Amino acid sequence: MKKGIIILGSANSNGETKKIASFVADKLNYPIIDLKTKNISEFDYEFKNRNDDFHPLIEEIVRNYNVIIFATPVYWYSMSGIMKTFFDRISDCLKIEKETGRKLRGLEIAVISCGSDKVLKDGFHMPFIETAKYLGMHYISDVHCWVENGTIPISVQNELNKFITSIE
Ligand SMILES: Cc1cc2nc3c(=O)[nH]c(=O)nc-3n(C[C@H](O)[C@H](O)[C@H](O)COP(=O)(O)O)c2cc1C
Repeated sequence: MKKGIIILGSANSNGETKKIASFVADKLNYPIIDLKTKNISEFDYEFKNRNDDFHPLIEEIVRNYNVIIFATPVYWYSMSGIMKTFFDRISDCLKIEKETGRKLRGLEIAVISCGSDKVLKDGFHMPFIETAKYLGMHYISDVHCWVENGTIPISVQNELNKFITSIE
């Protein structure tokens, strides 16, 4: 069984993306890391933020897991800002934490998006796919979700179950 982790990048720790992430986490028995609870600042060319929470987190991930599921709300047709900051900080692994960067190779990644629209605009997944390619990670799959009146619609649950099967 693969060992995986879900990285939650919502501005709401108990919002709709969390609800979806929890559905997947329960079935795959994966932990959820909530980026909102971490002190991870924006990429800095001078790496003055090297002692914030990013490095311990990415090291923990490469040491312990072989699948990363990124769970992000759709904010203005894109991944959330919190998630994008996490992606920007991966650049640290190419400059000052190269050993960690090398360990990203071979990891599998997948994406959960949660929006109010039922259909994503073209190109939403491109940054995930291209980042995976650049870093030598394998992009496995993605699923787009929404929540209605606080519950996950059955059609979305069915898609989530297919997504879960693609990860296992
Ligand atoms: C700043 C912001 C921008 C949003 N932009 C989009 C969007 O472009 N497309 C969409 O389908 N939903 C958009 N939404 C709706 C959210 O994606 C949707 O409500 C999602 O379920 C929220 O998840 P959360 O509770 O984890 O934040 C936006 C919401 C916010 C707060």
